Amino acid sequence: MTVFSIYIERLPTLVFRFLVSGFQSPIFMLFLIGQIALVACNSSNDSSEPVATEPLPLVNAQIKDGKDIATGLLAGEGLNVVKSHCLACHSSDLIVQNRFTREGWHKKIIWMQETQGLWDLGESEPVILNYLAANYAPEEFRGRRKPLAEVEWYELD
Ligand code: HEC
Repeated sequence: MTVFSIYIERLPTLVFRFLVSGFQSPIFMLFLIGQIALVACNSSNDSSEPVATEPLPLVNAQIKDGKDIATGLLAGEGLNVVKSHCLACHSSDLIVQNRFTREGWHKKIIWMQETQGLWDLGESEPVILNYLAANYAPEEFRGRRKPLAEVEWYELD
C-alpha cells in the first residue's frame, strides 16, 4: 500500500478534522458568515426584476445569406419588430435554438409576460407570432424552403 492510498483512505477523516478545527476558529467563522451574507445579497438582487422594461429602438436588419448579420435571426417579414421586442432582455439564441408552433410561441410570450416582466406587445404581437411561426416552427410545420436539389457530393478521404 502506497503512502498515497493511505491518504485516500484517511481523506474523509482529514476533511472532517479540518472542518471541525475550522469551525472552532473565529476567522473561519467570520469568513463563513461573510460568504453566506454575500450569497444572500446576490440572490435578493436577481429577484425577478426584469432586465428591460421597454423594446429596443427599431433598427433595419442587415441581411447576409438569409440571416440578420447582427443576431443570426432568419430574414423574414417582421424581423425588425422581433429584434426590437425580443432581444431587449436576452440574446437571439433563445429564439434560434427553439422550435414551436404559433400556439407554442404564444404560450412562451404569455409565460414571459407573467413571470419575466415582458410588456404587452400590442399590435406587434401578431407580427411577432407570424414571424416566429413562419421561421421557427417544428420541422413538420416548416415550409420555408424546398430541400436542396442539385447537391454536389464529394468523397471523404
Ligand atoms: C422583459 C424581458 C424579456 C423580453 C423582452 C423577452 N424575454 Fe424571452 N425570456 C426572458 C427571460 C428572463 C427568460 C428566461 C431566460 C433563462 O431561462 O435563462 C426568457 C426565455 C425565453 C425563451 C426560452 C423559454 C424556454 O422555455 O426555454 C424563449 C424562446 C424566449 N424567451 C423568447 C422570447 C421572444 C420571442 C421574445 C419577444 C416576444 C422575448 N423572449 C422577449 C425575458 C424576456
